Amino acid sequence: MSENPYSTAVLAWYEAHARDLPWRAPDASPWSILVSEIMLQQTPVVRVLPAWRAWMERWPTPAHLAKEPSGEAVRMWNRLGYPRRALRLHACAVAITEQHDGRVPDDHAALLALPGVGAYTAAAVASFAYGQRHAILDTNVRRVLARAETGIQYPPKTQTKAETALAESLLPPEASVAARWGVAVMELGALVCTARTPACADCPIAHECAWKAAGRPAHDGPPRRG
Ligand code: ADE
Repeated sequence: MSENPYSTAVLAWYEAHARDLPWRAPDASPWSILVSEIMLQQTPVVRVLPAWRAWMERWPTPAHLAKEPSGEAVRMWNRLGYPRRALRLHACAVAITEQHDGRVPDDHAALLALPGVGAYTAAAVASFAYGQRHAILDTNVRRVLARAETGIQYPPKTQTKAETALAESLLPPEASVAARWGVAVMELGALVCTARTPACADCPIAHECAWKAAGRPAHDGPPRRG
């Protein structure tokens, strides 16, 4: 038995409702997944889609990008915003080419050592690209867990150790299931358990949600986007 009371319902919901995003395709390369995660850090999916397609067409592997001057990456980044991410991705491509034989590492610590790759991105690539068992805590996941488990509308501004421990305790034991759970709960936060207008009527875990059970009490202070 799983210790995660929601995983079956969330995984079934994901099968039926997930967006068909190209970096989630079964044959998406680890490099394409890394590029998507860096682009998605501060930019919405609809704006990332065309930029990601153009990027992958031009630089299908880290070696293709590493050969070019970093200014080309910035130019290609175009209107995604926060162009320093383009420089970091270029630096990642160089590091992967020089230190990892052109292959995105599958080891969490090696991923974390890449330029501009933080704990979230390292876990996301290890999980989504390599099917490993890592807790995924982005803004969307943090909000779902805050509501379902803690009964509050929004998670704290900065991630706490308690949130990390909670996410780890909810990880299904089998790696492939854990990896699917990670992307599924993220999608639930993006599509249903949204920051300002959560669609509890469409939520597969509404009957187990502490926030809903408490009558959806409003957060103290201004509304949050996250
Ligand atoms: N699928 C995988 N990673 C994602 C992300 N960061 N945002 C939206 N969808 C995703």
